[in-house]
Amino acid sequence: MRVAIIGQGYVGTAVGIAASGAGHDVLGIEIDSSRLASLSVPYHVSGSYSSVVGADVVVIAVPTPLNDAREPDLSFVESACNSLKAVLGTSVLVVNESTSFPGTLRNVIAPILGSGHLYASAPERIDPANEKWDIGNTPRLVSGLSKDATSRAVEFYRSFCKDVVEVSSPEVAEAAKLFENTFRQVNIALVNEFAQIASALEIPTHETLGAAATKPYGFMTFVPSIGVGGHCIPVDPSYLSYAAGKAGIEASFINLANSVNASMPEYIAERISKALGGSLVGKSIQIAGISYKSGVADTRESPAIALIHALRDKGASVSWFDELVGTWNNESSTPLSGVDVGVIATAHAGVDYSAWKNELTMVIDVSIAPNTGWPKFL
Ligand SMILES: NC(=O)c1ccc[n+]([C@@H]2O[C@H](COP(=O)([O-])OP(=O)(O)OC[C@H]3O[C@@H](n4cnc5c(N)ncnc54)[C@H](O)[C@@H]3O)[C@@H](O)[C@H]2O)c1
Repeated sequence: MRVAIIGQGYVGTAVGIAASGAGHDVLGIEIDSSRLASLSVPYHVSGSYSSVVGADVVVIAVPTPLNDAREPDLSFVESACNSLKAVLGTSVLVVNESTSFPGTLRNVIAPILGSGHLYASAPERIDPANEKWDIGNTPRLVSGLSKDATSRAVEFYRSFCKDVVEVSSPEVAEAAKLFENTFRQVNIALVNEFAQIASALEIPTHETLGAAATKPYGFMTFVPSIGVGGHCIPVDPSYLSYAAGKAGIEASFINLANSVNASMPEYIAERISKALGGSLVGKSIQIAGISYKSGVADTRESPAIALIHALRDKGASVSWFDELVGTWNNESSTPLSGVDVGVIATAHAGVDYSAWKNELTMVIDVSIAPNTGWPKFL
């Protein structure tokens, strides 16, 4: 099939590589010229929508962030559809992989592109840096606005996904994607709240969680940390709460979980301050790992960055070390050195913490994984 993939970011390139590996004739469309110039993929890429003419399948993989009011921002999806409108042939299969609320395919995408095409939803589930689950072996939910759309979309995804799961409507696929990430967001908030309760009760959090996890059914372990980051867990649940609000339901769990997770950097800054006698003024603190998760360079919504701000607001002098990120906020990664407090926020593999070990540095580990060998702080 001739496949055009709109958006050549994390998702668009992963789909492009998989589809091209399956023998499709792939074209990637990317509007950011510097990103376009830096792409190195085994298929053709272009900044011009005119190259889409003649495509059999169009996959939309553009950002779906939140706006300043933390409500869904579909402007990238709408703008991609407006650009596509002029170049689509007839009976093209248009698939949306971008995460959004139920009804996006039916009520936003299809009305812009118009009748005469086949529409399907196949939300992306890729997990950056996950070595076990990838685009080929993670089950893919698929559903179209018509039977024909569903069967063509299933045929397309079967060509590079082992397990394609057909659901009854695009709304089910869209809502399932949001619910999966909401499940994580709420459970992470719950364990973050539990860490605060356990600390106040002077009970060891991780030993207690390990003890609870000996129950062989009905329990799943989540690990406390400085909060949630990236473009999924802090964002997707708000798409669901927005849709809930439009339908007259208040998504109280989602809203509460957002606020518990967002409060973690401030809570940790407060605990560090207490550990140092009640003030951070004049204290030197270094943060190891500022991206939102181990093994990636992405700092979007990273709680480690919120921690840097919270510590600076309390008067600390804060440097950071993250060779994957390199530069952020016109600041550069500083090699680990002796400071008053070292905080392992995101534990990237292979980091040598001996510079801290050799100095009188108090080390606080609030990371999730891999285990750095330091006692956990939360
Ligand atoms: N990255 C993940 O792990 C992941 C996982 C599952 C779902 N998603 C979802 O997939 C979607 C894409 O995410 P991503 O991480 O690939 O984002 P990204 O920011 O890495 O990439 C999106 C790309 O689309 C380009 N773009 C924006 N508007 C465009 C347009 N009109 N035409 C052409 N290109 C355009 C951007 O320049 C960018 O390079 C989002 O909805 C996201 O929530 C992401």
